[in-house]
Formats: sequence, structure tokens, C-alpha cells
Amino acid sequence: MVDDVSITPWEVSGSLGDTDYSRIATEFGAKVIDAGLKKRISEFTGDLHPFLLYDVFYAHRDLDLLLDAYSRGESFYLYTGRGPSGKMHLGHLLPFMFTRWLQEKFNVDLIIQITDDEKFLFRDLGRDDLEKYTNENVLDILSLGFIPEKTHILIDSRNSGLLYNNAIKVARHINVSLAKAVFGFSDSDNVGKYFFTSIQAVPSFILSEIKGKSVRCLIPYAIDQDPHFKVARDVIPKIGWQKPSSIISKFIPSLKGTGKMSSSDENSGIYLDDDRRTVRRKLMKYAFSGGRDTAEEQRKFGANPDIDFAFNVFRLLEQNPSVVGKVYEEYKTGKILSGEMKAMTADRISDLLEELMARRDDVRNHIGEYMFDPEKF
Ligand code: TYM
Repeated sequence: MVDDVSITPWEVSGSLGDTDYSRIATEFGAKVIDAGLKKRISEFTGDLHPFLLYDVFYAHRDLDLLLDAYSRGESFYLYTGRGPSGKMHLGHLLPFMFTRWLQEKFNVDLIIQITDDEKFLFRDLGRDDLEKYTNENVLDILSLGFIPEKTHILIDSRNSGLLYNNAIKVARHINVSLAKAVFGFSDSDNVGKYFFTSIQAVPSFILSEIKGKSVRCLIPYAIDQDPHFKVARDVIPKIGWQKPSSIISKFIPSLKGTGKMSSSDENSGIYLDDDRRTVRRKLMKYAFSGGRDTAEEQRKFGANPDIDFAFNVFRLLEQNPSVVGKVYEEYKTGKILSGEMKAMTADRISDLLEELMARRDDVRNHIGEYMFDPEKF
């Protein structure tokens, strides 16, 4: 809990601004990504992804050390994940879009953990729902286009032996009072919850276990997942492996401007199966606007793009910084009206979603090839 803002993997409350995010990163013990580190990243990647350029991925743990090791010839793998509790929204897609970029730039293996067990313990979901969301979410994620032979989907319930035997190594080092302090559990929480963070820690050292030597790992996620990895980083050296590094993002806010885009409010977010009309309607009706009340005032005084949902999403989906700069100026000076800004962003979002939909069948036909298999490493 940081003043009025509470962040755990299961609940985020309070409204977060840029200063809150920096404060949270520092209080959690992560570091903010500064201009020097961005430059360092671009030396390896050639360019900077918009999520780095506009500080969406804004904090890290030991990313500098990982890059040092990489430049000495030591490779790494990527690890990220999804808890299949329902349909995915645009916010959930963000870490996967960024991970895809990292995979392409560094040409490395990627493990994607699907924590259906987590959602069984934390949500009132039965086996059928979990199975359905697991299958749908995996297709959503893979349709982003990862490198097939380097992408490994690890579904917890289907890899329970491997996970359990490694999770107990972690669990032995986590006591109840630590779990209560970090995750806010009480005596009435079920015991599975206390164990779960050990399961989420496993993929961050599983390649070291499989290969029998330390392999570095980089984990992209939004700040809500950080408590898991703060704990994991303390424990993993105790079982003989290196601490994983992480790269941490802010949340895509709710359309309404406050809080994060969340599955608990259908109108707070854009879902991956929303069609063009729905996306446009949601933006027009709900998206928090930095524009003026009337077109006349907007033309005269201009908008505040910095707080505008549509503009902020637009710049994340536009690869060309000079286009972003132009739209920023035109919106700020009243040449672009609020409704136009929303329509432009709605189109960008729908283009992306349609692209994903178009790739789903292809992915479905090859789904087996993506499943985690220790023999592949
Ligand atoms: P889950 O399914 O809640 O979220 C999946 C990923 O999306 C991030 N996220 C967001 N990012 C931006 N804006 C938002 N509004 C937003 N909401 C969620 C989450 O931080 C996460 O990265 N326990 C995890 C699954 C998991 C995992 C991991 C995640 C297992 N291993 C390793 C990251 C890294 C979960 O339930 O995520």
C-alpha cells in the first residue's frame, strides 16, 4: 500500500498518475528506466518501441545487468504470462505486444505461463470455464505472431508435475507472515493462495533447472505482478540460480480515465473480440477526453492530449514519432476535434484487432507446436 494507492496482483485501487508510478517503483525496490538505459537498449534493438519511448514500460529490476551480460555473449530467455479468468482486453495485450518486440529484436526463447490454477484459487471459476478461457486466451496471445519454434506455452494444470516439483523449492523459503505482508492475505484466505506465488516463480528459473546451468531470464509485466517477482528474486539465489530481471509497465487506464482497464467493468475496456462498431461506440461514449465541451471552444482553445485516453492509445499504436508529434500539435491547437481523435484511435485499435482475428485460424492449426516441452531446450 502506497498512501491511497493499493497494488497487489489481485487488486488495484486508486488513481495513478506519473508521480505515483515512479513512487511505487521505488518503494517496491525497482528502478525507473532513465534516458541512459533507453539509449543502451536501443544500441541492441536499433530503435525504441513506442512503449519505451512514451514510458509505458518505465521501470526495471536488473535490466542493466542483463544487458551487460548479453554484451559479454551471455544470452537470456523471456518469460511472461496470463491468468485465464475471462476475455482479454487491450490492457492485457500490452505486455505481450512488447514481449513480441523483445523476442524479435533479441531472437530468444519465450515462455508464456497460463495460470489456470491461480484463477481456480482466486476466482469462483470451474474447470469448464478455465478450460474455455485458457484456449481462447492462448489463441489471442499467439495471434500476435511470436517466433513459433522459440515460443513455449506452459499451462499450469497440464504441466503440474514439473511446476510442483520446482515450486516446493521456492515455497520452503516463503513463510506465512511474508505472504501476508506482501499480498495482504488474511487468516480467512485459502491456503492455495499462500502457495501460488511459488508456482508463478518457477518459469523464471526453469531453464536453469532443465539445462543444469544458470540461464538469465527477463520478465515483462505490468506493476501489479511485481510483488510475485520481488519475492521470487529474494528466493531464487537461495536455490542456486540467478535472480531474474524484469521490465515493468504502467497500466492502460480504464476508458473512463481513472483506475486500470479491468475485466470487472465491461465498459471500462476494449475487448479483443469487440467489433469495429463496438470499439467506436465505446470510445465515443466512454473514453476520457482532454478536449473541450463544444467544438467551438475546442477550435479556439485546443485540447489537453496528455490526459486524453484516445491520444494516449493512438501514440502507442503508431510507430512513427513524427506522426505522433503532428497529431499532438494539431489536437492541442484545436485543429483536430475530440470526436475526430476518438475516431482515429478507434480505427487504429480495430485494425489491430482485425489483424489478430485474421491470424487466429492459422495459429489454431499449429497450436500443438507451441506447447511447452522440456526436450525442446
Ligand atoms: P493477468 O492475466 O491479470 O494479466 C496479464 C498481463 O497483463 C498485465 N495487465 C495490464 N497491463 C497493462 N494495462 C492493464 N490495464 C493491465 N491489466 C493487466 C499484467 O500485469 C500481466 O502482465 N498472474 C498473472 C499471470 C502470469 C504472469 C507471469 C504475468 C503468470 N506468470 C509472468 C506476467 C509475468 C496474471 O494473472 O496476469
